[in-house]
Amino acid sequence: MILNNIGILTSGGDSPGMNSAIKAIVNFASIYNIKVFGFLYGYKGLILNNYKILSNFYVNNIIHLGGTILGTSRSKLFFTTKGREISYKNLKKNKINALIVIGGNGTLKGISKFSNEYKIPIIGIPGTIDNDIYGTDLTLGYDTALNSIVNTVDNLKEIAYSNNRIFIIEVMGKNTGYLAYYSGIALSPLYIVHNNKYNLNNIQEELKKKKIKSNIIIVAENKYIGNASKLIYKKIKKNIKNYEFRHTILGYIQRGGKPSSIDRLLGYLFGKESIKRLINYKNNIVLGVKNNKIINIKLKKLINFNKKFNNNNFYNIYL
Ligand code: F6P
Repeated sequence: MILNNIGILTSGGDSPGMNSAIKAIVNFASIYNIKVFGFLYGYKGLILNNYKILSNFYVNNIIHLGGTILGTSRSKLFFTTKGREISYKNLKKNKINALIVIGGNGTLKGISKFSNEYKIPIIGIPGTIDNDIYGTDLTLGYDTALNSIVNTVDNLKEIAYSNNRIFIIEVMGKNTGYLAYYSGIALSPLYIVHNNKYNLNNIQEELKKKKIKSNIIIVAENKYIGNASKLIYKKIKKNIKNYEFRHTILGYIQRGGKPSSIDRLLGYLFGKESIKRLINYKNNIVLGVKNNKIINIKLKKLINFNKKFNNNNFYNIYL
């Protein structure tokens, strides 16, 4: 089969570095005279047949931008048989012979379902700030989000120390706690709750040891429980007296912003390697990073496994 038209899309939560991946895909595709259809707002664009043809000129000046120039969404329709059928028809109509999707667990699980039903070469790129995709040490956007958290919480530390307060700060990361754990190490807080486990007595002991009334506690969001940090804040406030506590949810500020150099490089590598793999008939895989190499993860595996938190992971990535 000649690879002459490919589709790409970004879906789910946007993550810094997605634009770098889009640019690399378009640049490397052009070397092989492959036309790139950029579907807008994720699977929604595929279903509505809403796309832009992406040229080198179009993607020339996007590498430094956060978010995704293609737009994104969490499409419920793609999770229906009908939605996937329409998507396939649109791909056929445009004579598209391969698809690259960039996104998190939901996006990759959706495309895995699609690839069980329809025969079209697929490459997935793990794009999420949560670093929660099975098989890869690193996801696109995680490094930038870590840096954003560290920079923002540094500001909060100034308030904590000027006002003699203890801030309980919730960070994103869905259910794996990577962002909380590793931003925590970089911020040196009083306490890190990365897996919803904490001990009030230990917190109290730590406070006594420090002899000052200013500090921060980092808490991972937890989608299973919801309001995890608020519950902890209420409990701490009720049980530990003589300290002034405040509660802050960092929110979407940690998902935006200019991609770090690591995320730009990762986006570039993922984009380039997607095209190389399609050219070499390697497909129905998600790309990942292990021991500083770009690896292939079978799409099927993603359906059956969830990434578990591993605190050796840091060393695999950075050392
Ligand atoms: O997956 C990225 C992420 O930002 C998570 O950290 C967070 O739980 C979720 O998306 C928020 O989703 P939404 O943008 O749909 O509110």
